[in-house]
Amino acid sequence: MFHDNSGSSNGHYRVGQQREGRPRRGRGGTGGGFRASHYSQQSQERSPIPPCTEYDKAYFQAYSDIAIHEEMIKDHVRTSTYRAAIMRYQDSIAGKVVMDVGCGTGILAIFCALAGARRVYAIDASDIAFQASEIVKSNNLSDRIIVLHGRVEDVNVEEMVDVIISEWMGYLLLYETMLPSVIFARDKWLKPGGLIMPSHATLYMAPVTHSVRYRESIDFWRDVYGIDMTAMLSLAKQCAFEEPCVETISGENVMTWPSAVMRVDCYAVLAEELESITAKYKFISMLQAPLHGFAFWFDVEFDGPQNVPSNEHIHTLGASSDIILHPNNKNKKRLKSNEAIVLSTAPEDDPTHWQQTIIYFYDPIEVKQDQIIQGSITLSQSKENARFLNIRLEYSSGGRSFVKETVMR
Ligand SMILES: C[S@@+](CC[C@H](N)C(=O)[O-])C[C@H]1O[C@@H](n2cnc3c(N)ncnc32)[C@H](O)[C@@H]1O
Repeated sequence: MFHDNSGSSNGHYRVGQQREGRPRRGRGGTGGGFRASHYSQQSQERSPIPPCTEYDKAYFQAYSDIAIHEEMIKDHVRTSTYRAAIMRYQDSIAGKVVMDVGCGTGILAIFCALAGARRVYAIDASDIAFQASEIVKSNNLSDRIIVLHGRVEDVNVEEMVDVIISEWMGYLLLYETMLPSVIFARDKWLKPGGLIMPSHATLYMAPVTHSVRYRESIDFWRDVYGIDMTAMLSLAKQCAFEEPCVETISGENVMTWPSAVMRVDCYAVLAEELESITAKYKFISMLQAPLHGFAFWFDVEFDGPQNVPSNEHIHTLGASSDIILHPNNKNKKRLKSNEAIVLSTAPEDDPTHWQQTIIYFYDPIEVKQDQIIQGSITLSQSKENARFLNIRLEYSSGGRSFVKETVMR
């Protein structure tokens, strides 16, 4: 079944350029204490429908490109972890009503239907919804999957749902700012005691040394066929390192155990809590090496339904973020209640299309073993385009302090 259920203008609107790779997103906050609240309370004071901006239209247009969906679906870690989680919670899905927020090609909606869902609302504002509808038909699932073409904020669904599933994570976790749409759906349609997949997300950071990268991009200009091109150095640093870099690093680049920047409880987080997040960190270097910047990655967990409201729904680990995770903290092996399924994008885990995000300094800092590296990180939604992420990184080590401000756009 296919409904062009778009709001005023987002359905077939074509704005902006097609771009390769996954679109990027963002919002930020004030670290420290997040307010606690529960979705069943929030549903009574639901947020107004946010406007669909020209940036949003360009964002949805980017998702009509097949390349993005191919990249995501071919990311076996991502797609098979979602499928494993659906099968783990089959008892909560079979015979139930599911909403897939941002269904893309419909793959997660179809997994849910195959797990026995009675009805699945598969919602996407991008034109990829047309293909999703065809895919649903050709798999003979039109009687159970309803594809709605429109923003989740605008579509009309006339029943409450038992399960909300969504793959909303952007680079640096928050980039793309899709989580507020999942929150909107949760507050409007999720039944009390319903299931959200994934249930929790954690963003990590760690200091990195990466001499090879620095040599290839920067030191290269010092001697080019015997010619002194050091005049290029400042331009090279700006071009290579002004913005966050999405690339794969290895465990050998990481100088300490990581620190958790924030942990989000998808059952409870409020959209405004994601607007600006500040966390403090403190690392003790395990190596003597040049510090080239910081790497960021995230994981998401698939825990079961939360029946008991908790007051601990979202934390920046800001005030207490000198939490240094235990050595060998392999995320997948972390002890969680009921051994939650974890989708990890950590450098020591199997690679994903998210890779890691690195914020490089223009100049490395020499760090000795056991030297303290500390400071704070602020991630804020850009005022220019809510899907961009403003990043302010304060860092100090060996008595010197620095600030790096950058935008992930
Ligand atoms: C990361 S993709 C995931 C696609 C698919 N669920 C999958 O796993 O392959 C996110 C999708 O959500 C859609 N999306 C993002 N925000 C949305 C919103 N507010 N309403 C409807 N669709 C949205 C995008 O157009 C995109 O197709």
